[in-house]
Amino acid sequence: MLILSPSILAADFSVLGKQIKEAENAGAQYLHIDVMDGMFVPSISFGMPVVSTIRKISDIVFDVHLMIEKPERYIEEFARIGADIITFHLEATKQPQEVIEQIHSLGKKAGLSIKPATPVEAVLPFIDKIDMLLVMTVEPGFGGQSYIPESTQRIRQARGLFEERSLHTDIQVDGGITVDNVHVVLEAGANVIVAGSAVFKGDVGSNVEKMLEAFRKFQGI
Ligand code: DX5
Ligand code: ZN
Repeated sequence: MLILSPSILAADFSVLGKQIKEAENAGAQYLHIDVMDGMFVPSISFGMPVVSTIRKISDIVFDVHLMIEKPERYIEEFARIGADIITFHLEATKQPQEVIEQIHSLGKKAGLSIKPATPVEAVLPFIDKIDMLLVMTVEPGFGGQSYIPESTQRIRQARGLFEERSLHTDIQVDGGITVDNVHVVLEAGANVIVAGSAVFKGDVGSNVEKMLEAFRKFQGI
């Protein structure tokens, strides 16, 4: 199943609740929530108060992308305030196995993310433990960047690693995805598509509809 996960990093925070509802009503299945700590990535985005506030206005799947050092410090809190999927970076912790177990013990789905320079093979020790692999398609830290073309081969390689093991694990892509290039990542094997600027710049509802239309076109329906 193809899933659209709009990233609120690109939203207008003065009307965040309204924009989330627009995305949800237009058919987006997840909401991508980028948490940045100013250490793992240069920028700082937002944290717990924002997540718990928007949890009150929406039942959409909260797809939380932690771009923070030592994510093990905050897994419990994000689970408590309403995260459904918690994705952390392989590069950010010395104990990825424990973090995956921690997320699962809280009844949440575990996502593992790799930056563009991290070899895809680095996820092999965890390949049958995770619910989702996030292959970053830009350097994490900022919205509005361009898709890194070498990502296509990395997505394909990741899909191959899962298929060789008969695993149907979700592959998420994040960064620089638009209606014009989404077919490239879908063809390579991604099925959970993050889009920030492509959804929140302009009319949110019609942007979501255009992206879902691109999904249907790819599927031939
Ligand atoms: C980047 C974030 C992305 C970002 C995507 O570090 O992880 O989720 O919001 O934004 P766009 O779609 O504008 O590249
Ligand atoms: Zn993200």
